[in-house]
This record gives sequence, C-alpha cells and structure tokens, in this order.
Amino acid sequence: MPTLTPAARNSHLLGINGLSANTINSILDKAARGPSADKPLAQKVVVNLFFENSTRTRTSFEISAFKLGADVVNISTRDSSIAKGETLLDTALTLNAYKPAVLIVRHPNSGAVDLLAQKVNCSTINAGDGQHEHPTQALLDALTIQQSFGTLRGLKVALCGDVLHSRVARSNYHLLDTMGAEVRLVGPDTLLPSAAAMPNAQRHLRLEDGLKNIDVVMMLRLQVERMKGNYFPSVREYYHFWGLTPDRLRVASKGALVLHPGPMNRGVEIGSEVADDIKRSAIVRQLENGIAVRCACLEMVTGSFTPEQ
Ligand code: NCD
Repeated sequence: MPTLTPAARNSHLLGINGLSANTINSILDKAARGPSADKPLAQKVVVNLFFENSTRTRTSFEISAFKLGADVVNISTRDSSIAKGETLLDTALTLNAYKPAVLIVRHPNSGAVDLLAQKVNCSTINAGDGQHEHPTQALLDALTIQQSFGTLRGLKVALCGDVLHSRVARSNYHLLDTMGAEVRLVGPDTLLPSAAAMPNAQRHLRLEDGLKNIDVVMMLRLQVERMKGNYFPSVREYYHFWGLTPDRLRVASKGALVLHPGPMNRGVEIGSEVADDIKRSAIVRQLENGIAVRCACLEMVTGSFTPEQ
C-alpha cells in the first residue's frame, strides 16, 4: 500500500499528553470566547469516522463543524466497507483521496488514530482511541471545572471507578496534572492503572477516603466492552461500594462539583439523586461545553486559531 506523505503544515490533536499549560489555557480561552463568526471552515469537508458507538462526541463534533461552516460527512463502521473487511489504512487512503480538511476518528484500539494521522494529508482529531486518550473530553471537562472555580490550579479532583479502561481518565490526568491540580484515583484495586501510568496521582481504595475534601468528583462508567476477565464481583456490589450517592458526598468540600462524561449507568457508578441534582451535577454543562471546545479544536487544527506553545 502506498504511504502518503503528511503535509508539512498538518496539525493534529491526538492527545493531551505533551501539550503545555500555555496551549491548554489558550484552547480553553478560545472555547470560552466562542467560534469565529466568519465561518472559517466554509467550503471544507470534515469527516467523522467512528469505529465505535457514540452519541455525544459524534453529534457535538458534527454540530461544531456546522457552526464553523463546514460540510460534514459521517461514517460509522456498520455502513462502511470496514464491515466488508477493509483495513483501517485502506479506509484512510480512500477517504484521503477525497481531500477532507479534518478527519475525526474514534477507534477501539489504542494508538489507531496516531497511526492514521501519519498516513493522511489532512488534520486529524482523536475522538477516543481504545483506553488511551480522549483529548476533547478532557478539555471540555476542564472548561466546565474552570467555569465553577475560576482555575484548575490547586483543586482536588477525584477520577472515580473504572480508571484502568478509561481514556477520559487518562486525558484528564495529563491535563489536570499539567495545570497544577491534585489528582486522586479512587476505585477498586483491580480497576486502577499501575502507579507508573499516572505517577503524580494519589490512589484511594475506599470512596469515603478518596472523596474527603474533594472539589471535583469525576465518575467513570464501567467500560465492560474493554474488560477481558472479571474485575468486580457484581454490579450490585459495585454500586454498594463505589456508587456515588448523596450520602457518599458528605465528606466532599462544600461546593463540590460532580462530572460524568456519559454515557451514565444509573444505579451502577452513580445514583439518580446525584446525577440530577442541579446544585451539584455539571453534567449538562459538560455537554454544552463540548460544542465550544470542539469548535476551538477544529479551528486550531485547521489554522484559523493558533494557540500559544
Ligand atoms: C466516553 C468515551 O467514549 O470514552 N464517553 C464520551 O466520549 N463522552 C466514556 C465512556 O465510554 O464511558
């Protein structure tokens, strides 16, 4: 298969790891200012290439691209030639020939989007690869936290539950650590990554310890589709020990904020009383911020906005 030469001016967003605090700050500032009014992506094609199910991420990328004036094409595994056995790189080669400006990719394998980015001439955004990274989710989480606290520096943030399989947790760890927040990993030992994976995070094996004086609680879904083996005895027991309830939140700081990237499993990692508590839960704001952040990222990779380095 011929290898495509990446264009010199290519700009990709493949992960948070490696981005500086300056770059993160300027993306968040741009997202807060809102998308450029002059439709910088007019006449440009944005392709959403999703090899996994998605509601929020795909839809919000699509809306964001529309807001910037782009024409959007959605491809999902079910209705593409991937279902006929085509390889990832052959699919990329095909799409590349149509000259899109941006390829937004979600894939079940960690590293798949990085590989693809090396083979195409357009900009690439990682919309979640395996259990590796999900950069736009971490950015929208950061914007949501900043709106409530004014800063990320010095905040105590708990990533709770299935941290091991979570690309959301991994991207958030890198972002929060870079921005000077204190990160705690809170979950059963079987669902926490090795200390080497997130070296600056504290580990807590009891929810009540991990949530003590916490400012932000980020709940994570049990990502059973990525599990190979048994990591917990039963969903009922999991909720008993790890489900977020109003009672469990009593030890948190007074104005503690609850986040969830979705999709939520009520009665598994979070109870409805917390999820729907408008004083505590920022889940709807996370969804709204998804558009602002994805607009900023699309503008960044296409060059109509240049972040600080
Ligand atoms: C997450 C994902 O797909 O990584 N969802 C999302 O993008 N909003 C989290 C999850 O699947 O649990």
